[in-house]
Amino acid sequence: MPDTLTTWGGWEPAIRDDPFGHFAEARARCPVQRMRLADGHPAWVVLGHDAARQALSDPRISKDMLAALEDNGDVVAEGLPGPEFSRHMLNVDPPDHTRLRRLVSRAFVPARVAALEPAVRDIANGLLDDLEEAGSGATVDLVHGYAHPLPFRVIGELLGIPPADRPDLHAWFQVLLTGWAGAPPAEAVEASGKIVSYLRELVDTKRRSPAEDLVSVLLAVGEDVLTTQEVLSSLFQLVVAGHDTTASLISNGVVALLDHPGQMQALLGDLGQLPAAIDELIRFTAPVPHATFRVTAEPATIGGVGIPAHEQVLVCLSSANRDPGRFPAPDTLDIGRNNASHLGFGHGPHYCLGAPLARLEARVAFETLLGRHPNLRLAVDRDVLAWAHGDGLVLRGLVSLPVILGPRPAPGE
Ligand code: HEM
Repeated sequence: MPDTLTTWGGWEPAIRDDPFGHFAEARARCPVQRMRLADGHPAWVVLGHDAARQALSDPRISKDMLAALEDNGDVVAEGLPGPEFSRHMLNVDPPDHTRLRRLVSRAFVPARVAALEPAVRDIANGLLDDLEEAGSGATVDLVHGYAHPLPFRVIGELLGIPPADRPDLHAWFQVLLTGWAGAPPAEAVEASGKIVSYLRELVDTKRRSPAEDLVSVLLAVGEDVLTTQEVLSSLFQLVVAGHDTTASLISNGVVALLDHPGQMQALLGDLGQLPAAIDELIRFTAPVPHATFRVTAEPATIGGVGIPAHEQVLVCLSSANRDPGRFPAPDTLDIGRNNASHLGFGHGPHYCLGAPLARLEARVAFETLLGRHPNLRLAVDRDVLAWAHGDGLVLRGLVSLPVILGPRPAPGE
């Protein structure tokens, strides 16, 4: 029988760069559909807001893809960097999820996150100092010079990665997160190998000489509570989840504000609106367009559609965040709107643990950038901007963002 499933992912550049119309068309057809992924496997794609909330909190829909793999060899292929690094909270269900999340969440309690603000501000100012050395009329790349290094340095601080090691580690992660179709290319395998050796060595060092950082805190709970595999996996997951996402929020957000000068002016008039504006920028620009893959452990009905057991489920957060049934005029950027129910940080037990830190980093990043450079502008035509990340499913970030910062306002201006 011919395969009649619509393909989801592996989009041509025009859709990858601006996927929202494509998502809206699919959502209008049906909020939950069986489609075919670019890798050839089928998956149920959840597009409506109510259905997405339901899918993300339904205990019959599991995050343990490895267990599913054992049950049904057709579901997923094990990716890089391999099983030693995949036993983290985002890949397991309760009770393991509860245990792993509780241990790591010690680093994200409000007081600890708030205490990071001066360090984040120093990092933001330091990066802008470096960019300004090129001169106020020069073209600088905001992705490589600001949006990316800022959260990478913060997660490096949190985890206790020595500053001298961060540039290499960051470069290897960049290669690994670029994405690819089919078998991983040689450079990704090489980068993965370097990350694996580095993180193993870091854990050995912290075991020998513990400090105040999160890795030391996790090791201190003991192997009987948290295995070395779980520490390594958590470490890997925190680096991935903790930098590329926030980097995309910062650079996607700058583009969205430059695309909407009225909203930019409103924000510049009162940077105190930033906390609400940041959530609107997450809703609107989709730094994480889809949640990570799930699988039905048992048959489940989502959005009125029956999904059999052992099927992949992919929740399109970005489509849910532009569901007109939930957000009036969803394709309008409105920094003053009530967007409390957006799903950009997910929903349910796997709701983003780093959300308070991401919000803090983004607020400080925008406050510092717009405070110092309110006349920032694109240095290239808008349609030259390209969004990357292989299949474009879980991460949506710019390849580069060439801008002219413009002069700094005189004090008091
Ligand atoms: C704008 C920035 C960010 C966005 C949009 C974002 C988005 C998300 C989303 C959608 C999920 C749920 C995935 C799923 O259910 O499949 C998630 C989970 C997670 N995020 Fe974030 N994230 C961001 C920043 C961060 C940061 C800065 C950290 C940590 C330093 C972090 C750590 C985590 C962790 C640990 C989880 C797994 C939670 C669990 O499984 O219980 N995230 N994030």
